[in-house]
Amino acid sequence: MPIGMTLMKFILEEQRKFPNASGNFTGLISDLAIAAKVISREVNKAGLINILGATGYSNVQGEEVQKLDEYANTVIVGSMEHGDYLSAMASEEMEGIYAVPERYPKGNYLLVFDPLDGSSNIDVNISIGTIFSVLRKKERGKKVTVEDFLQPGTEQVCAGYILYGSSTILVYTSGYGVHGFTLDPSVGEFILSHENIRIPDKGTIFSINEGNSRYWYDGTKNYIKMLKSRTTISARYVGSLVADFHRNLIKGGIFLYPKDRRAKNGKLRLLYEANPLSLIVEQAGGAATTGEKRVLKIVPKELHQRVPLIIGNKRDVIEAERYWQESLTAVV
Ligand code: AHG
Ligand code: MN
Ligand code: MN
Repeated sequence: MPIGMTLMKFILEEQRKFPNASGNFTGLISDLAIAAKVISREVNKAGLINILGATGYSNVQGEEVQKLDEYANTVIVGSMEHGDYLSAMASEEMEGIYAVPERYPKGNYLLVFDPLDGSSNIDVNISIGTIFSVLRKKERGKKVTVEDFLQPGTEQVCAGYILYGSSTILVYTSGYGVHGFTLDPSVGEFILSHENIRIPDKGTIFSINEGNSRYWYDGTKNYIKMLKSRTTISARYVGSLVADFHRNLIKGGIFLYPKDRRAKNGKLRLLYEANPLSLIVEQAGGAATTGEKRVLKIVPKELHQRVPLIIGNKRDVIEAERYWQESLTAVV
C-alpha cells in the first residue's frame, strides 16, 4: 500500500510552482524534519534515558533549562548549520544569534525557534513541541547581525511547529495554506494527514491560566466572565502553548496569555512563539492580537521580546480585543 504524500514530495510539488526557486528552502525543511524525528525519538523514550529533569542552570529568560530543552536545541543547530540555506539561527535557549560557522556554505534564510515548548510538562508526559519561523536576510553579503532577525511577522517566509503528542505531527505554512504531516514511525516519514487546515469559525474552548486571575486587568476579567456565561463553553489549558494552539486550530477556540499586573508584556516570546503561530492561524482563517494590535505587525526591538498573545478563531479574538479596548477607555 503506497505510503501517501510525504512532506518532501509535498514541498517539491509546492516548489515546482516557483520555476526560479533555488531549492534550498526544500533543503531547510528536509533537515528540520530530520531534527524533528530525532527529537521525537528522544521525547518518546525520555523516561528511559537520562534526559529528564533540569540541567541545573537558567537561560537568558531566567528560566531553568530542562535537559530536553538543551538537547532539542543542540539537535536543531547540528542538523541545520551545515546546509546551504541559512545565514544564522536564533533560539530561546541561546542568548545571541548563532551565525553559521565559516566552514559551512551560507544561504539567505534565518531560522528562529523554540526548541522545546512546554518544558514544564516534560517530566509528566504531557505533549510538548518545537516552534519555528523562517525569515529572509534583507541585505545579501553583509555580515549577519541580530538586526536581521528584527522583522515583523508578516515577513516570515515559513512558520510551523512539531507537536510531540499521541502522535508526532509537523504543521507548517509558507503562505499557501496550513498543512499537517503525521510521522509514520514505521517508515520514518512525515505523511500528509491534514491538508489545508482551516480553524472553525466558532469555538467552544478557551485556554488561559486562571491561576493568574488575581493579576488580570478588567479587559481580561470581563471577557472571561462573559465566556463563562455562554451555554456551551469548555476550559482547556495544557501549559504547552503548542498543544493548546493545535487543539484550538483543529477544534476552534481561543488561547490567551494577556499582559497583566505581573507580566507587563505577557509571557510568550514574539519571534519564536507568537509570530509563527500567528502566521499559521491567519493562514487558517483565524486571528492573533496583543489586545491592542495585530501580532504580525509588531516590529521587534529585541530577540527575546515578550508580547501578550490572544490567538484563535477570528470571531472570538475580535470579541476579546473589543473587551480589552473597552477596558482601556474605561480606565482613562
Ligand atoms: P517554554 O517551555 O518554551 O518556556 O514555553 C512555555 C510557555 C508556553 O508553552 C505555555 O503556554 C506557557 O509557557 C505556560 O505558562 P504558565 O505556566 O505561566 O501558564
Ligand atoms: Mn515556548
Ligand atoms: Mn522552550
